[in-house]
Amino acid sequence: MRHLLSINDLSASDAIGILDTATELARINDGQVKKLPTLRGRTIVNLFAEDSTRTRISFEAAAKRLSADVINFSAKGSSLSKGESLKDTAQTLQAMGADAVVIRHSASGAAQRLADLEWMSGSVINAGDGTHEHPSQALLDAFTIRKHLGKGASDLKGLRVAIVGDVLHSRVARSNVLLLSMLGADVVLVAPPTLLPVGVESWPATISYDFDSVIPNVDAIMMLRVQQERMSDLFFPNSREYSRYFGLNSERMSAMAKHAIVMHPGPMNRGLEIAADVADSARSVIVEQVTNGVNVRMAILYVLLAGGPLEVGSN
Ligand code: NCD
Repeated sequence: MRHLLSINDLSASDAIGILDTATELARINDGQVKKLPTLRGRTIVNLFAEDSTRTRISFEAAAKRLSADVINFSAKGSSLSKGESLKDTAQTLQAMGADAVVIRHSASGAAQRLADLEWMSGSVINAGDGTHEHPSQALLDAFTIRKHLGKGASDLKGLRVAIVGDVLHSRVARSNVLLLSMLGADVVLVAPPTLLPVGVESWPATISYDFDSVIPNVDAIMMLRVQQERMSDLFFPNSREYSRYFGLNSERMSAMAKHAIVMHPGPMNRGLEIAADVADSARSVIVEQVTNGVNVRMAILYVLLAGGPLEVGSN
C-alpha cells in the first residue's frame, strides 16, 4: 500500500493491520518510551488548505513521535492562497524530498489528484477532501469502537453503529460507512432526507428518519457536525427544529443501551447536534477519540512508510 486516499484502498485485513499496529503503538506510548526512532530522517509534509485543529495537530504529533521531520504548510500565508495551483505547490514539496504528504483540501478528489501526478514519489494521505472521504478519522473511530465494544475481537462483527446528522456534507460519514461495514458492523444512517446525499441507498448502510426508534438498538451513536459553512441552501427549518428531531440530548441518551457509547469527530456545535451535558457525560468517548487519533495516525504513517504493519509483541 502506497497511499491512503480512501477506505476503498484498504482490505479488511489491511484495516485490521492498522488498528493492531495502533494498539501496539498505544501500548508502547503508555509505557516509558514516548518517541520511537522508526521514521528518523524521513520528511512528512502537512499540507492543510482547509481549516483543521484536531487532524493537523494529530498528524503532527504522530509524525514527531515516530521521529520524522515535519513541515507544516497551511494555505494561509502560502502561495496557495495567492492562487498557485495545487500541482505547483506539490512540485515544490516533491523538490524538497517529502516522503509523505498529508493533505486536507476543500475539493473532493484533491488527494487523488496529488497521488496521480506521475512525478509524485511520496505517499499521499487524505486528511479530508471536500465532502468525499476522511479515512484516518474512520480508522480512529473504528479503533475507538473496537476498544470499547470489541470484546477482544479483531473486527466489529455484530456491532450496531448509528451515524446521525449532516451526512450530506460529511466525509467522516462516508469513510465510516465504508470501513465499519467492511469490518462487519451494521451501520444505520439517521438524518432528515434533505441531509442525505444522492445515491445513499447504494451505501452499505440502512437509513432511518426516526432517531428515537434507533437509539435503544445500537452500541454506538456517532453524531455529525451540522456543517453550516458548506450549506448554501436551507436544509432544515431552524436550529430548534433540528435539535428536536436529530439532536442528542440527555433524555435521548437515557434511552441508550447501558454499554453504548457517544462519539463525535469534532468540532462540535454544542446545543445543536449534541447537548453540552451529553458531550461531557461518562458515556462520551469524544476526548478519547482525539487521543486514539494520534496512535492511529502513527500506525498509518508506520504502515505506509515502514513498509507494513507492526508485528504484535515485537517491542
Ligand atoms: C471532521 C472533518 O474535518 O471532516 N473533523 C475532523 O476531522 N475532526 C468533521 C467536521 O468538520 O465536522
